[in-house]
Amino acid sequence: MAENIHTIFDRMHTRADKERLLGQRGIMVWFTGLSGSGKSTLAVALEQRLHAMGYLCRILDGDNIRSGINNNLGFGYEDRVENIRRIAEVGKLFVGTGIVTIAAFISPVNAIREMAAGIIGEEDFVEVYVSTPIQECERRDVKGLYAKARRGEIKHFTGIDSPFEAPASPALEIDTTDADVDRSVSRLLEVILPRIAVNENGNERI
Ligand code: ADX
Repeated sequence: MAENIHTIFDRMHTRADKERLLGQRGIMVWFTGLSGSGKSTLAVALEQRLHAMGYLCRILDGDNIRSGINNNLGFGYEDRVENIRRIAEVGKLFVGTGIVTIAAFISPVNAIREMAAGIIGEEDFVEVYVSTPIQECERRDVKGLYAKARRGEIKHFTGIDSPFEAPASPALEIDTTDADVDRSVSRLLEVILPRIAVNENGNERI
């Protein structure tokens, strides 16, 4: 019962305290795109570069989360909503701890991504659309899932028999068909660094 819940938020260190301690600002970098589009690859490469620059990061990734906290969810619409709702709530905790949080989930439709942005807070949400076309994702078929979906062995597969809506105004769009990973990370850093960098006085570092 909500009346019996007594939160301790007023006694905890604030987000600003934690950001000062870390010397960075928390943010959510939210990758959306088809399975096989390159979200996880970009997330990992981005974390590598940011970590090397001294930024504390945390990746939240589809297959990891779905084998842990969300291992009771499938791929029908309601389960996808619940998947992203939990991820957004967990992500919000990381962002509120001052961590550069990097989420890589299909998050297939605008309503689902808007829900995530609403939970995390629009001001902390940087949407990156990994727009690699389905033909290329299917050609790669790293996990063999497109072939299974075409054979009807997987139902509700995004892009085959479950919808994907391109975001209307992402902060950045990256098609990984021919793109070099390092170059893509550099483009990401142009958007992200001004948002996370602070100096010792708590002001912008760059
Ligand atoms: S989301 O739609 O709910 O955001 P999420 O990113 O967590 O999806 O999980 C996607 C991953 O689950 C895919 O990369 C793929 O490996 C696997 N997967 C298994 N079944 C499906 C399916 N029906 N549709 C999409 N991805 C699936």
